[in-house]
Amino acid sequence: MRLFDCHNIEDFRQLAKRRLPWPVFDYIDGAADDELTKARNTDAFAQADLVPDVLAGVAKIDTSCTIMGRRSALPLMLSPTAVQRAFHWQGETAVAKAAEKFGLWFGISSLATRSIEDIAALTDGPKLFQLYVHKDTGLNASMIERCQASGFDALALTVDTIVSGKRERCLRSGFTTPPRFTPSALWSYATRPRWTLDYLLREQFRLPNLDAHVAEGSSRAVSIADYFNTMLDTAMDWDTAARIRQDWGGAFCLKGVMSAADARRAVEIGADAIMVSNHGGRQLDGSRAPFDQLREIVDTVGGEIEIICDGGVQRGTHVLKALSAGATAASGGRLYLYALAAAGQLGVERALGILQDEIERGMRLMGVTSVDQLTPDRLRWR
Ligand code: LAC
Repeated sequence: MRLFDCHNIEDFRQLAKRRLPWPVFDYIDGAADDELTKARNTDAFAQADLVPDVLAGVAKIDTSCTIMGRRSALPLMLSPTAVQRAFHWQGETAVAKAAEKFGLWFGISSLATRSIEDIAALTDGPKLFQLYVHKDTGLNASMIERCQASGFDALALTVDTIVSGKRERCLRSGFTTPPRFTPSALWSYATRPRWTLDYLLREQFRLPNLDAHVAEGSSRAVSIADYFNTMLDTAMDWDTAARIRQDWGGAFCLKGVMSAADARRAVEIGADAIMVSNHGGRQLDGSRAPFDQLREIVDTVGGEIEIICDGGVQRGTHVLKALSAGATAASGGRLYLYALAAAGQLGVERALGILQDEIERGMRLMGVTSVDQLTPDRLRWR
């Protein structure tokens, strides 16, 4: 199997599985507990069906939309995800460049392996920084100031990792950041020489947005669960969010809102957007899927705040369904991460090209020429 044999996100997943040592693959692919919520995130899209119109004159269509004040070529964002250097040596650079090529928003994590400044210098395209609120308040202030100085377009405060989800695949594999060659996985590293040599010989794994403040995750290897549980501020609450919203001053998004009541509070603290998200099913297993929650959230705050449906997106038609249900845009992490892991920037570009093509084809087959024509009357719920 090669890159050009990949025609959908599952194909990239298969290729990534062949190319990555299993602890690394399982870190991306895995989720919490029984992984029910991760599966539901995608399955939920089958709960509603699109109703096409025909003879609509779709020679010219416009797939673009505005998200947090910036134009996006597609109603699709690349969600921020952590430690991309562990998946491919090109790391966040590959994702930033591919996003720029396709005119899309992307995000980098607080746990990114490229610095805020390096990413800002790479692209003028729309980009957000995903903030984890640490116990170290100096670190929080430093990340916000660096994003302001570098001209990041938005800050996304992650609110669903107050403690770590129980990621059993990581417990079994011993995955840490930075990755370590544990005895039980040695064979897997040895049989993935391309990944292993890239990891050992190319530029060193770092978390440059954190490492001046904390050694964990950079010079001290820890699991993601230990990182969350020891470094992040469990006391974070709505006052914290409101304060960060004020300190930041720019476009502000809450990532990980799942209830209509919380969506209302997000409006009240002046957030510009919410990402309806369960962190890719990696936190509270047995919780609802973003697409399942969309209708009640749209009923409560639709028109007052931008609503991004994050998670489970594997197809262009999933994006069309999210928009028809009232979302401003859809977003996802694994949808580009498998491709990054499989083939770096080229892989991400191929995955985005496939999704772009699916969105365009889907819009034409739906008989719509712009994304605002995707309205609730174009969906039927089973
Ligand atoms: C995770 C974090 C780091 O889900 O976003 O693993």
